[in-house]
Amino acid sequence: INWFPGHMHKATKEIKQRLPSVDLIIEVLDARIPYSSANPVIAKLRGDKPCIKLLNKSDLADPEITKRWIEHFEQDKSVRSMAVTSHKPDQIRAILQDVRSLFADNFERGRPIHIMITGIPNVGKSTIINILAQRTIAKTGNEPAVTKGQQKINLPDGLFLWDTPGILWGKFHNQSAAYRLATTGAIKETAVSNDDIAAWAAEYLLRAYPDALVKRYELASTPRDEIDFLEQAGKRRGCISRGNQIDFEKIAKIFLTEYRDATLGLLSLETPEMAQAEEAEVEAKL
Ligand code: GTP
Repeated sequence: INWFPGHMHKATKEIKQRLPSVDLIIEVLDARIPYSSANPVIAKLRGDKPCIKLLNKSDLADPEITKRWIEHFEQDKSVRSMAVTSHKPDQIRAILQDVRSLFADNFERGRPIHIMITGIPNVGKSTIINILAQRTIAKTGNEPAVTKGQQKINLPDGLFLWDTPGILWGKFHNQSAAYRLATTGAIKETAVSNDDIAAWAAEYLLRAYPDALVKRYELASTPRDEIDFLEQAGKRRGCISRGNQIDFEKIAKIFLTEYRDATLGLLSLETPEMAQAEEAEVEAKL
């Protein structure tokens, strides 16, 4: 899976330039894929600059796995992490209270605090910015054709929020991460077809949450593998094309939609242990 290398390059450059002059980073991550939705540039260059990792869309993720992610992130003393959903704006606004206590010194001396906010497309970054700013902030830089740079947003009490382009950075070296992004719907412009993405997602979900799939599609037994699953689910949903063949494209779309809106249940796609193992594998390959 491959996407927009040119824009990624530009976004990465802007983040690199801004990073040294900010006091704090707010990283908006997708709670279902906290590793795959994280910007590897931030991980590499942040050092011990304070960082708040917001696991957004936690209303769609497996709460047990989300808890493990938070514990994992908070092993790093410079990181605060919490599960949020933009359906609960008060919870998100409370972050500013945390920032005030973290930078109590700056407040006493009337020094401004610069915060950089990052997040891949569709992760809910704009919604979160609007909640923090308590007004609607126009989007910039999100569309490939828009060349505007970073946007500085004034928050109350001398806080400044620097928005960064919500462009997807690739982890070309990690295909699983790319498939997870495609499964959640973060990658749209991809040459990979829905059936391929659905087969990948089914393979993982059958291992991690077999009962959820069997229940939702009222299957007689646990499928042997992802193809068996798509065939059985396709039959149940009447996804049959001419010649009495299973219409894989149709069942793939239904399955992905039902994953994305959590009709299948609260299912996460990765654990901290998986991410650590993959990271080690990627390092070894580079
Ligand atoms: P781009 O506009 O693509 O850059 O994405 P963005 O990261 O700015 O995301 P945006 O705020 O536009 O939200 C993307 C979609 O996710 C919208 O349809 C939101 O309604 C939805 N969304 C945002 N936060 C949440 C959340 O916590 N839970 C759920 N279920 N949906 C959310």
